[in-house]
Formats: sequence, structure tokens, C-alpha cells
Amino acid sequence: MKYSDPAFDKKILTDRTIVVTGGGSGLGKAMSAYLADLGANVVITGRREEVLQTTAEEINGQVSGKVLGVNGDVREMEDVRKVIKAGIEEFGQIDGLINNAAGNFVSPTERLSHRAFQSVIGIVLNGSVNYSLEVGKYWIEKQIKGVMLNIVTTYAWTGTGYTVPSACAKAGVLALTRSLAVEWGRKYGIRCNAVAPGPFPTKGAWDRLFPEAMRDQFDPANRVPLQRVGDHQELANLVAYLMSDYAAYINGEVITIDGGEWLENGGQFNMFRHVPDDMWDMLAAMRGKKK
Ligand code: HXC
Repeated sequence: MKYSDPAFDKKILTDRTIVVTGGGSGLGKAMSAYLADLGANVVITGRREEVLQTTAEEINGQVSGKVLGVNGDVREMEDVRKVIKAGIEEFGQIDGLINNAAGNFVSPTERLSHRAFQSVIGIVLNGSVNYSLEVGKYWIEKQIKGVMLNIVTTYAWTGTGYTVPSACAKAGVLALTRSLAVEWGRKYGIRCNAVAPGPFPTKGAWDRLFPEAMRDQFDPANRVPLQRVGDHQELANLVAYLMSDYAAYINGEVITIDGGEWLENGGQFNMFRHVPDDMWDMLAAMRGKKK
């Protein structure tokens, strides 16, 4: 097998309905397509109606589950309620939620207006809160042991310059994940986990985070010990597992899938990878002379 192959032979998500925010494009689309391939009904939501319908049509032709596109802005509570209602009407109930919708751009922080901050925090943090609250209350009322998965990033715990609104928002989403895993896990049997993907190229994120002119200088694969970016199917495999009952005992966890990227760049001496072998030989020889 290859790491880019689908992981499961069995339809492990049959009879499940999962809402994926930002499911019309990028990583949300890749996850939704695989969940539907594994038998799930998937409600994809985003702001662009045309994108959602095109994606739904594309996936529906190829899978055993069904994809429904319902447009809406995660920041607007009325839209959130509309999406959930449409999902329940179409499929009977909702069993899973993936808070994936994100907004981000690179900029020195001192160049940002407070509205720029609010825009990203509104989508990433408030959007995740809005869906978690609304779906969570529905699960509690109907006594459904739902599964929630939040897409974060490794800078949720390291912090990072140049995408500070996103770092603040993702840190909040991680806190939400761990908090609800305990509170709603104990009281209602609702599981809540997070996934922190490293570089998985998508058009939306790459255009915003690695402007064309800087791409050669900042090749994301160079930051990864395994020296490659991620394949969308690798992420979809992990997400499908976490949404399934195979992961029934995983709760409150954040799983990093980044080829070792954050550890390499967090470790104080990892820049020694730039030291060539002959220089190590020279240093060893010099140590020998001192003895
Ligand atoms: C500085 C900017 C800006 C930029 C917008 N703003 N883009 N400031 N640099 N590049 C400012 C605007 O000037 C405005 O402030 C405020 O932000 C709101 O802008 P709007 O365009 O009105 O916001 P909105 O229409 O709500 O759009 C939200 C958005 C947009 C975040 C700005 O890019 C978007 O919709 N993105 C969704 C998709 C996305 O970003 N995908 C990438 C996610 S990747 P003023 O003061 O002028 O009014 C990701 C992965 C992380 O998160 C991990 C990577 C490895």
C-alpha cells in the first residue's frame, strides 16, 4: 500500500450523518468525499452556493453515502441553525460535526486592523463555538452520543508570528476541544477531539499563506523532517478513523499529522542539520587533539 491510498475496506461510517463546515473546497472537500465513500451522509456548508453544489454533485456520483450542500456563514447563528435543520430534515439526525471552516492570511501584526483580527477570530473561533453549541445542545436534547472533531494547527500551542489572529483563534478552538471532551464526555458521552495538520497544500490556504513571489524561498516541504508535504488522503484516513467507533476511547486528544514539522522547528538544536558531515569530522578531530 501507499500512504496516499484509502485506509478502510469496510464502510465504517454507514448510517452516520456528519456536518463538515468549509466542506465545499480544500481539505474539507477531501475529508467529506472520503467520509461519504465510507458510507456517511455528509452535510457540507460554506458561503459559496455554487462551490457547494458543484462539490456535492462531484462526490455524489462516486460514493455510497450522500452529500448535501447547504450554504451559510459560520459566523451567523441563523445560518448555523438553517444548516443543521436541513441536515436533520434530509437524513433524520446528525451524529458528527467537523469544525473545519477557517480564514487566514499572512501579515505583520502591526499592519492589521482590529477588523482583520475580528474577521479571522469570527470564522475560526466563533464559528466553531457556534456549531459546537448548536449541535451539542441538539445531541444533549436527543440523547445522541455525538462525535466532534476540530481542525486546528500546531501553532495553536506554539503560537506563531505573521498569522496571529489565526494562532489566537486556533488556541481557543483547542481549549474548546479539551474542555468539552471532559464536560460533555462525562455527562453525555459526546467525544471531542482535534487534528493538527501540518502542510497539506490547498489552493485557498496556499494562495493566502505562501504568496507566489515567496514560494521558492519558503518551500514548506523543507521544514518537514520527512521532506514532503501531506497528501489529502492521509488526513482523510485519520479523520475517518477518529469519527468512527474504532476511536470510541479517544477523547480530548489532539493528533498532529505533520511529518514532524513542529518538533523539528521547536527543538533548539535542530538547526544543526545544516552542518555538513565533513564539518562534524573536523570538530571530532579537533576534540581528539585537545585530549
Ligand atoms: C491584512 C486583511 C487581509 C490581508 C483581509 N484583511 N485580508 N488585512 N492582510 N491579507 C482585513 C480587511 O482589510 C478588513 O479590515 C478585514 O480583514 C475583513 O476583511 P473582509 O475581506 O471584509 O473579510 P471577510 O469577507 O469576512 O473575509 C475573511 C477573510 C478571507 C479571512 C479575510 O480571506 C476569507 O474569507 N477566507 C476564507 C478562506 C481562507 O482563508 N482559507 C485559508 C485557511 S488556511 P478593514 O479594517 O480594512 O475593514 C488555515 C490553515 C492554517 O487556516 C494552517 C496552515 C499550515
